[in-house]
Amino acid sequence: MQTHSAKSEIADQLRSFGVSLKEFLRDPSMVGSAFPASRRMIDKMLADVPWKEIDVFVEYGPGTGRFTEEALRRLGPHAKLVAIDTSPDFTRNLERQIRDRRLIAVAGSAQDVENILSLRGLDSADCILSGLPFSNVGRLEGRAIMDASWSVLATNGHFLAYQMRKAIRPLLDERFHMVSESFEWRNVPPCHLYMASRPRHLARRRAVPA
Ligand SMILES: C[S@@+](CC[C@H](N)C(=O)[O-])C[C@H]1O[C@@H](n2cnc3c(N)ncnc32)[C@H](O)[C@@H]1O
Repeated sequence: MQTHSAKSEIADQLRSFGVSLKEFLRDPSMVGSAFPASRRMIDKMLADVPWKEIDVFVEYGPGTGRFTEEALRRLGPHAKLVAIDTSPDFTRNLERQIRDRRLIAVAGSAQDVENILSLRGLDSADCILSGLPFSNVGRLEGRAIMDASWSVLATNGHFLAYQMRKAIRPLLDERFHMVSESFEWRNVPPCHLYMASRPRHLARRRAVPA
C-alpha cells in the first residue's frame, strides 16, 4: 500500500507534468519539451560543479524544477538558489512543490538577472545554469542574456547550459576562456551540455564584437 507521502509525491509529479504540458502547448518554442529533464542528464550536467564553493546558484528556465531540486540537494545549508522563469505558472508550481528556505523563485526574464539579484541583496552568482532555448530566443536577446550573465558571474564562476541545438556555443566561446561540451541522448529531447568557466586570473572581460 502506498504511504501518504508517496501519494502526495505522485500528485505533485502529475501536477508538474500538467503545468509543463500546458506551458509547452502555450509556447512550444520557449519551453522546448513537455517532459522534465532526465535523471541521467541532470547527474551528468551537475557532476563537475564545485558545490562547496557555491554561495549563490542561479537557474534560468527551471520549468518543473527537476534541476532545481537536485541543485538544492547538492548545495550547502547557507547557499541561495535563485530560479528565474518567464512563466509565473512554473515559478508558482516551484514554490508550492519545493519547500526550501534557500530557494528564491522569480517570475521574470534571465535578461534582468542583475536587477533580480541586487533587489535581493545579492551582487554576484558563483554558478549559472541555463535551460533556455537559445536557438529560439533570438540573436539580440541571446546576447543580452549572456552579457547580463557575464556581468553578475563571479570571476571564478561557472556557466552551465543544456540545449537541444548548438546555438549557445559561439556565445560561450566569445566570452569564456574554457568551454567543455558533451552530449546526452537519454533525455527527451537529447541535449548538448556545456560548462564554461573563467579562471580567477581572467578577471577582465574579453572584448565581444557587436
Ligand atoms: C527547456 S525548458 C526547461 C525545462 C526544465 N529543465 C524541466 O525539467 O522542466 C525552458 C524554460 O525556459 C523558460 N524561459 C524561456 N525564456 C526565458 C527567459 N528569457 N528567461 C527565463 N526563463 C525563460 C521557459 O518558460 C521554460 O520553463
